[in-house]
Amino acid sequence: MAPSYKHHVFICQNQRPEGHPRGCCLAKGADKILEYMKIRIKELGLKNIRINKAGCLDQCEKGPAVVIYPEGTWYTIKTIEDAETLIQSHLIQDQKATELLMK
Ligand code: FES
Repeated sequence: MAPSYKHHVFICQNQRPEGHPRGCCLAKGADKILEYMKIRIKELGLKNIRINKAGCLDQCEKGPAVVIYPEGTWYTIKTIEDAETLIQSHLIQDQKATELLMK
């Protein structure tokens, strides 16, 4: 049977050469956000939630770019604190972390 996740989180891990006009999420610490979220989901024993790396999500200027499906909610997650807020609010309480929504 095909898996069906309650929340499927994609975090851009794209890297571009330094000085590229669009920048990239990796240069803004997206790798640390990914690592933290994976560890925390496990620690908290959250089931039915999947954290995946993504290629460029075409929101480079607003990164680190994160999108959660099936709801299709976009976030800019800049720090570990932001990542924790996202977990507590969106993934645990099913409430959008409004202050972190991508603008
Ligand atoms: S580099 Fe992350 S959205 Fe494009």
